[in-house]
Amino acid sequence: MSTAGAFPDGFLWGAATSSYQVEGAVDADGRAPSIWDTFTAERGLDSGADACDHYRRWAADADLMAGLNMTAYRFSLAWPRIVPQGTGAVNRAGLAHYDRMVDGLLERGITPVPTLYHWDLPQALQDRGGWTDRATTEAFAEYTDVCLDALGDRVPIWLTVNEPWVVSVLGYRLGLHAPGERDLRTSLLVAHHLLLAHGQAMGRIRERCPDARAGIPLSLFPNYPVSDDPADVAAARGSEGYTNRWYLDPVLRGRYPADTWDLFERLVGPLDFVQPGDLDLIGTRSDLLGVNYYTRRRIAAAPQDGLPWRVLPAQPGVPVTDSGWEDVPEAFHDLLVGLHREYDVPLLITENGGVWNAGPDPDGRVRDTGRVRALHGHLRALSRAVDDGARVLGYLHWSLLDNLEWAEGYAQRFGLVHVDHATQRRTVKDSARYYASVIAANRVLDPADHSAPAGSAGDDGP
Ligand code: FCB
Repeated sequence: MSTAGAFPDGFLWGAATSSYQVEGAVDADGRAPSIWDTFTAERGLDSGADACDHYRRWAADADLMAGLNMTAYRFSLAWPRIVPQGTGAVNRAGLAHYDRMVDGLLERGITPVPTLYHWDLPQALQDRGGWTDRATTEAFAEYTDVCLDALGDRVPIWLTVNEPWVVSVLGYRLGLHAPGERDLRTSLLVAHHLLLAHGQAMGRIRERCPDARAGIPLSLFPNYPVSDDPADVAAARGSEGYTNRWYLDPVLRGRYPADTWDLFERLVGPLDFVQPGDLDLIGTRSDLLGVNYYTRRRIAAAPQDGLPWRVLPAQPGVPVTDSGWEDVPEAFHDLLVGLHREYDVPLLITENGGVWNAGPDPDGRVRDTGRVRALHGHLRALSRAVDDGARVLGYLHWSLLDNLEWAEGYAQRFGLVHVDHATQRRTVKDSARYYASVIAANRVLDPADHSAPAGSAGDDGP
């Protein structure tokens, strides 16, 4: 338990990124294309070709993190750098990059928290079916072994597969993310394989790195019924099964939720891709659950639709981010307390943040007041959840840098640190200064006193 507003000793404070969103250098040191190189080229979208050039600038970025008092950094390992064809030959040059970065983080007192898979599947595997092919889960286990053998002696926390729900839904049901397919059954097949890949990785981590802590980062949404009408209440429960329990229950209880299973079988027929033994593997004991939280879902019944609910737009009067997502810290508190009660697992906040597009003012300072307000609200909600008994290991803000927001490109800015994508100049935003003072105090502070630059602004060019 904490005293009000304070966090436990040893609480991890930091930020998160992922390889394709920040690294750039897509042709460097033997990297092969991923599905995101292909998808952005095919659709004419902004690509990660340059991104934040973090592959080359990681040391300066690590200095920035240290200067902001951060004690942990969540980044992802790029499979197409390490095993470029997905299976087989290991690319030592790609691996050496992460080896140096892990050492560089540790030298600066920053705990490395790598994610094994954050969506940049080697294109060579996609050409053989990608996540629709069960063999990809075996390839992932093989790649995981390579990562563990190279970095496992220094990495204390491993994250497995980022947000299978988002991959499944945006990549395979709605066609908005790579590889751009649109089919409910395929999306469920892929979700199962992603969970199986998580289970495979957990098994490998247990075997090779018994002292490490590990778990899966899930995108989790509190789903609220729009009214007390039993139909809306049931719809919200259904939607919650779809977004949350379909992933939480197999990982933390070793079984799929029966209500959601029945709904899916009604819609797509037998889920016969779930094979005997799969759920035992998926349910391999986790040490922690990664929580990615951005917003809530308000749900109304829609019995005539395939999935029998509708997600309502932002409620008038509720603050929204610059991308229109409702900014509701209270829902974050509800989510964390609910997870603690239902699953009683240590939580690591692996993503939380929002889009605020403020850029530098003429004096060079980035006054991202929306992010400061939201960060304050969410940290307060987090601290109340800790007071209410949730076991929270740390908080990793999304994101360290303004980066490639997938299909939305560079137009959406999630960073604590502003990036001028033409020059790669970094500028610490007001939100980052506020965050640094919170970290130093290990308690929630009033932003009014703590987001102004201490000395001159613009002290953080590359
Ligand atoms: C999450 C992703 C992350 C980032 C944030 C905004 O779904 O894991 O890469 O794009 O959303």
